[in-house]
Amino acid sequence: MAEGNHTVVTEFILLGFTDNLRLQVLLFMVFLLIYLFTVVGNLGMIVLIRINSRLHTPMYFFISSLSFLDVSYSTIITPSTLMTFVAEKKTISYTACAAQLFLFGIAVTGECYLLAVMAYDRFIAICNPLLYPVIMSRRFCMLLVCGSYFMGCVNATVQTIIIFCLSFCNSNIINHFFCDVPPILKLSCSDTYITDLVHFTCTAVTVTSTILLIVISYICIGVTIHKIKSAKGRHKAFSTCASHVTAVTVFYGTGSFMYLRPSSKYSVEHDKIISVFYTLVIPMLNPMIYSLRNKEVKEALRRTIARLYCSPRKQQRFRTPSRTERK
Ligand SMILES: *[C@@H]1O[C@H](CO)[C@@H](O)[C@H](O)[C@H]1NC(C)=O
Repeated sequence: MAEGNHTVVTEFILLGFTDNLRLQVLLFMVFLLIYLFTVVGNLGMIVLIRINSRLHTPMYFFISSLSFLDVSYSTIITPSTLMTFVAEKKTISYTACAAQLFLFGIAVTGECYLLAVMAYDRFIAICNPLLYPVIMSRRFCMLLVCGSYFMGCVNATVQTIIIFCLSFCNSNIINHFFCDVPPILKLSCSDTYITDLVHFTCTAVTVTSTILLIVISYICIGVTIHKIKSAKGRHKAFSTCASHVTAVTVFYGTGSFMYLRPSSKYSVEHDKIISVFYTLVIPMLNPMIYSLRNKEVKEALRRTIARLYCSPRKQQRFRTPSRTERK
């Protein structure tokens, strides 16, 4: 790297969304609410799955892993985002920025692979139901989840190293609400050709491999469901996939807005809005997708609430009249 006489950047400034004070207050409230919903929804999901033994299956193990990722995801992004609305100096230190980039890299790539793992789980459940308990052993499920995190670590490590090997000298103002690769790349005064290439390759590898796995799984699932004679059996098989299909569509749907656009239409504001969706809104939506469209989760929720609110004494009081009636 050339040794220029530039000042070393020790902190960055996150511009956030707007300079308008009123709008900042409004957005602060909105983002805080989104975050609270995300935490309550996802942690609630994890607890619900934990305490209902009927939900102790591989599918729900993966769903609670997804919830954990979603909470982590928004906890990584939200603090810096909220800070941009209220802080006078919207600075984030070089180290904090690198840490955010790294953790976000793990979470977002982990989520891609976890969605693929969940498709594979549905594929085995529907196309190979007899061997399902054997294949999806506890150990193998753990392995799949750890594998997703491992891929996340690979991406995050590569991205963070290549980004922070660049030198920054022009400006330290990031026009975004958290430290992500593209907005930081724009600040660098080094040649970013290799960095761009590596970023593109990582994204391409992750996205193509996971989408391919998901599509192949669903083609096999589709073929199997098509062969089922009874409409009821067909419906039952499909209903276990419905939530996953929705989650995948929402995740990759917003992702595609980010990447599949003509480069002439590039705009920072457009990118920011899409980023809000896939970093903050989707983690909030996932628990809703998995609870509203899923009978088992709804039933577990009803049972748990009943257990919480009907103390044993109350239940007895309800039972007493029927006993006297019988007499
Ligand atoms: C890899 O990590 C970076 C941040 O470290 C992130 O911006 C990028 O989206 C990740 N790539 C994929 C394909 O998930």
